[in-house]
Amino acid sequence: GDDVLAELERLAVEVALEAGRLIVDDRPADLGVSKTKSTATDVVTVMDQRAQDLLRSRLQAARPGDGFLGEEEGGTDRESEITWVVDPIDGTVNYLYGIPSYAVSVAAVVGDPTTPGAWRPVAGAVVNPVTGELFHAHLGAGAWLRRGDGPSQSLTIGTAPGLGHALAGTGFGYDTRRRLWQARVLVEVLPHLRDIRRIGSAALDICAVAAGSLDCYFERGLNPWDLAAAWLVLTEAGGEFTGLEGAAPDQWMVVGAAPTLHAELEAVVRRAVQAAGDE
Ligand code: IPD
Repeated sequence: GDDVLAELERLAVEVALEAGRLIVDDRPADLGVSKTKSTATDVVTVMDQRAQDLLRSRLQAARPGDGFLGEEEGGTDRESEITWVVDPIDGTVNYLYGIPSYAVSVAAVVGDPTTPGAWRPVAGAVVNPVTGELFHAHLGAGAWLRRGDGPSQSLTIGTAPGLGHALAGTGFGYDTRRRLWQARVLVEVLPHLRDIRRIGSAALDICAVAAGSLDCYFERGLNPWDLAAAWLVLTEAGGEFTGLEGAAPDQWMVVGAAPTLHAELEAVVRRAVQAAGDE
């Protein structure tokens, strides 16, 4: 019932805030400048793993029967009714460079998050620990944004303009082949848009659509931990978040926007994907 979902949301918020404090407080101030690239990347990986270990131990202490899936090593079985899907640092490149757009994402999901189309988020939180912005939601209870110690404010998706006036977020994978394909898609999509932002954290980008600071979002290659909590925030705000041709959001492609814009964006991305050919 709603009490259980509200409790899952409360727990997601609590652990996301705690992990957010860890990654900010223990980030070496000189991470991007004085370290060689490889040392810097190692530091980020260590912080990723530490934050995930913290999330896993807090969640397992509070709800020992639940499953756990994270970006880093150390998942558990997912036979349980609820699985926690976490990204300890979404936006690791921003974290490396000290750009204040990275997030901790924590979602409680039902179904198997490793099987596309076979799961959905029911509660979650996305926190930017630098700005103090916290997005949170549980199924059926709306989407909320809290800034610092302020009150949570309800998010309602706007009536987005047509695609020609829409500001779209997107992102690129780490693999060169994938990037070449994404560049071909971008060539096809960009002329239809007001402009593109590549902010660097999928979770924050999708929440930004819910909050109206982006009009829409699309990306190929996201993992469940990048999108699980933000998917719920966007849909609870009244937005639509799908794959192509009505599929569930998955690694192949996700498209998120207000209901007034979603079909137009989906059609443009679908045509761009056809034009781009195989990866
Ligand atoms: C990445 C970010 C980025 C997106 C990539 C993701 P990570 O997540 O969300 O914005 O474009 O596809 O992999 O690696 O920083 O957790």
